[in-house]
Amino acid sequence: MRLNNVTRESMRVKLDYNNMMKTYVGEEGFTMEELEQHKGLCRHAYEVAQANRGKGMMGWTELPYNQDEIVEDIIETAKHVRKNCENFVVLGIGGSALGPIAVFQALCHLHHNDLPKSKRKAPKFYVEDNVDPERMVALLEVIDPEKTIFNVITKSGATSETMTQYLIIMQILKSRLGEKAKDHMIATTSSAKGNLIKIAKEEGLKTFYIPDGVGGRFSQLCPVGLLPAAVLGIDIKTMLDGAKYMDKICKNKDFKKNPAMMSALLQYLSIQRGKNISVMMPYADSLKYIADWYCQLWGESLGKAVDKEGNVVYAGQTPVKSLGVTDQHSQVQLYTEGPFDKVVTFLAVENYRAEVHISEGCPDIPDVNFLCGHTMNELITAERKATEYALTVKGRLNHTIYLPIVNEFTIGQLLFLFEMETAYIGEMLNIDTYNQPGVEGGKNATYALLGRKGYEEKREELANAPAKKAEHVI
Ligand code: PA5
Repeated sequence: MRLNNVTRESMRVKLDYNNMMKTYVGEEGFTMEELEQHKGLCRHAYEVAQANRGKGMMGWTELPYNQDEIVEDIIETAKHVRKNCENFVVLGIGGSALGPIAVFQALCHLHHNDLPKSKRKAPKFYVEDNVDPERMVALLEVIDPEKTIFNVITKSGATSETMTQYLIIMQILKSRLGEKAKDHMIATTSSAKGNLIKIAKEEGLKTFYIPDGVGGRFSQLCPVGLLPAAVLGIDIKTMLDGAKYMDKICKNKDFKKNPAMMSALLQYLSIQRGKNISVMMPYADSLKYIADWYCQLWGESLGKAVDKEGNVVYAGQTPVKSLGVTDQHSQVQLYTEGPFDKVVTFLAVENYRAEVHISEGCPDIPDVNFLCGHTMNELITAERKATEYALTVKGRLNHTIYLPIVNEFTIGQLLFLFEMETAYIGEMLNIDTYNQPGVEGGKNATYALLGRKGYEEKREELANAPAKKAEHVI
């Protein structure tokens, strides 16, 4: 859907950072003068990030602009998938799963898979992002593989979890469908390297490519996320348009008008003051898994042992997901009265897609009756504002990102906003935002434990690790 400029402006995602400022939050906060003192740092982050757009591992910045042809192919494939299956299952993990999950939750019915077929208008959707054998058995108990199309997603084509799932499912498909098995598997992977591309060619699978400069956690706006979204009936062109719109805003050189830069600066300065935890707290079930996606983006991108010059820095800020209002009854006590080590980011929705009136019913019990006549919309909004206020008066840094409504345009904006913020803060911290040596370490140890060729030395290293003492297992 092509949106006009007035509609686009009315759906602009905005950052409210008042409660990061001394005026509101007291001593813990910042003054505008302090922020201005870091204008040079913002300029540096801006120049490096903008100069590297589309280069190296910053290929993701161009995804809103350079996929016209691929988007048409995705839409055509999605139509075919919708017509020919009852279930669509993503096999992938990390960046190859969290984006599809987040967008599904944000833009589809909250009980999509439970809707009757006539109301669903898209296949049931599952993302298998683990190798828990119980989960695999459970999946196979609720889907008929012959009525299912699978999308195996792995950029490296070497991730044990994803390839394990692929092997199991492909064997089942072949045993049941023979030659036709290939019609039930779509591969999304790197065109140049890795094993999945080789397998996909041999098996004759429909294949989508993950561009070289797009790492897993920055891949939601390429075929990794776009194909599952299109299969679910999500308007992917509008989502990309939202990303484009936010990109323009985040290209503003003035950090005071650039929400990605301002937010990056505030988080950067907070980290310097020992705020080592970033809590992402959406006040909407639809945005629950955006918080999961953010946790990977923030954690894997910023958690680095060394800076670009190789100095040991142990950088990072631990991301934590929290759901409003649910976690008010679980986490907010800690956020309000615990250590001063957190920055809370609220995700606020101005217009929920449903309105529910609270029924009249307890005229004689004032402590319950005050709710009557209000809406759930008013209640959730009041609770968000109240939590924000409670944190602020206790001197707890917090800021709010407002979404006028949850739709393709605003979700595209939100994803791009967080990606740009991550890129900017990565430059401020002077780290490689796009590698993940820590993840590779675990992957290599797994290969060694399972006897993969070429990992003999690692296997030896693991075998020589100090044996665990029985008396420490109690
Ligand atoms: O952000 C990343 O690059 C990682 O988290 C990957 O997405 C994850 O390890 C899965 O990798 P792959 O897509 O190669 O299977």
